Order: sequence, then structure tokens, then C-alpha cells
Amino acid sequence: MAARLSLRDVTLRFGGVKVLQDVTFDVAPGVILGLVGPNGAGKTSLFNCISGHYKPTGGSVAIDGTEVVGTAPSKLVRLGLARTFQHPALQLDATVLENVVLGGHTRLPGGPVSWSLRLPHTQRAEREIRGEALSLLERANLGWAANLPADELSHGLHKGIELCRALLSKPSLLLLDEPAAGLSHGEVEQLIDTVRRVRADEDITVVVVEHHMGLISALTDRVVVLDHGRKLMEGTAAQAQSDPRVIEAYLGKDAADDAA
Ligand SMILES: Nc1ncnc2c1ncn2[C@@H]1O[C@H](COP(=O)(O)OP(=O)(O)OP(=O)(O)O)[C@@H](O)[C@H]1O
Ligand SMILES: [Mg+2]
Repeated sequence: MAARLSLRDVTLRFGGVKVLQDVTFDVAPGVILGLVGPNGAGKTSLFNCISGHYKPTGGSVAIDGTEVVGTAPSKLVRLGLARTFQHPALQLDATVLENVVLGGHTRLPGGPVSWSLRLPHTQRAEREIRGEALSLLERANLGWAANLPADELSHGLHKGIELCRALLSKPSLLLLDEPAAGLSHGEVEQLIDTVRRVRADEDITVVVVEHHMGLISALTDRVVVLDHGRKLMEGTAAQAQSDPRVIEAYLGKDAADDAA
């Protein structure tokens, strides 16, 4: 079966700084892959290369076999890609529901002209998308907040809203950048449950960047470890946690020697 996401020798330079070097891995359909590594390893930069926010200096990014380097982020949404950001960017003066509904705009039939005329089929599609947005919020235990302005909610809840917004585009490939950062223990449990349920109910492949090793162990089938822009290893979360190269990258050489 073709990989849902295929990276070959992805390289990214800013001036003289090599942020990513020859990163190569595949993610098979239906897999939840963890992308881990110390601060500054290049995880968010790699997401930006996949989602079209950065153009890699070299290498290839393919989604379901289609080369996407150079494709604009808005077009990638139509190819089934959705992502969340390390620092959620919500419309703070809009309601929670309105923020989630934004994720469905690519599913509206027609274009800007028919949208502004609000023709009957546009209105029908809008109602359907609002209904789905509400049920996504309810599934994430956020239904109670649907009509509140987003700025009245905590950072942790913003992460949940952003996840619902990403899911509304019905992605086949979902990139989550530190979804558990700043979440309480209960919120992390809720997040694990939501992502598991989404994977079980829909044909979705997930790549999740996270420092929360509990979440990585509970949720992922495989992990890729990045360090200084290079792939250090690939395997299960348990293999990564006991790999001396990974321990050294996180804690230094002494810790790796002690663990050996
Ligand atoms: N637009 C940019 N211009 C210059 N340097 C950048 C840019 N974006 C990222 N970098 C550099 O690339 C390196 C990797 O950063 P990146 O944010 O991808 O790391 P990360 O693994 O996501 O780290 P963290 O876990 O802290 O989020 C850093 O040294 C960062 O300063
Ligand atoms: Mg990052």
C-alpha cells in the first residue's frame, strides 16, 4: 500500500543554518506516528515543510504519492491535509463554534461569489457544517462552550478547539504540533481519547509532535526521533525511550553512559 505521507531527504536551510538534513521516513495509512526530539530539533520546521508553510531547500514530500513541495497550504487542505499549531491561532473575538466552522470552508460548494449570494445549496451546506462542528465540539466535551467568545476560554481549551477545527475539514492526514502543551492531566486523557476515536471512526493518519512521553507511549504506533535536524532513529516509543542515542540527545552523554 502507498504511504499516506512520504518524506525523502527533506533538507531546509535558513542562510547558513541547516535546520533539517536529509530527513527520510514514510507514514502508512491509519498509523499514528510520534515525531519527537529535543527543543530546536526541527519538528515544527518539518511540519511547516509538509504543510506548505516552508519550502524545503531539497528533497521530496509526497501525500498519497502526489509530490506537494511548492503547493500552497490552502491547496493542501483540499488534498486532505490538516494541522494544528504549536501556538494556537484562533479568532479570539469570534465564538468557539465560529472558530471551528472556519475549518469547514473548503467543503462549501461553489466559490466566493456563490458564498456571498448565499444560494440555497450554500445555506444547506453551511447548516450541515455547523451541525458537524457542534458534534465535534460535543465529542471533545466542549459543547458547553460553543457560543462563548474564544477569548473567554483557557489555553488548554484553545488546543481542543483547534483540533476540532482541523477535524472539520475531514482530513486524511492530520499533523498535531504539541497538542498536549499546557493541558491538565484530565485534558491530556481527553485528547488521547479523542485522537484514538477519530482514528478508529475515520480513515485518518496522524503525525503528532509532543514532548509529553505519556501521550506518545499511549497513542503512537511508531516514533521518529529528530535531533539537530537529522533523523536519529525510528521504532516504537519503548525502543526510542531505551535507545542510548535518544537518551544522549535529550540528557547528554553521561546519562546515556549511565543507562547503558
Ligand atoms: N523561520 C526561521 N528562520 C530561521 N530559523 C528558523 C526558522 N524556523 C525555525 N528556525 C530554526 O530552526 C531550528 C528548529 O526549530 P523548530 O521550531 O523546528 O524546532 P522544534 O523541534 O519544533 O523545537 P520545539 O520543541 O522547541 O518546538 C531552530 O534552531 C530554529 O531557530
Ligand atoms: Mg516546535
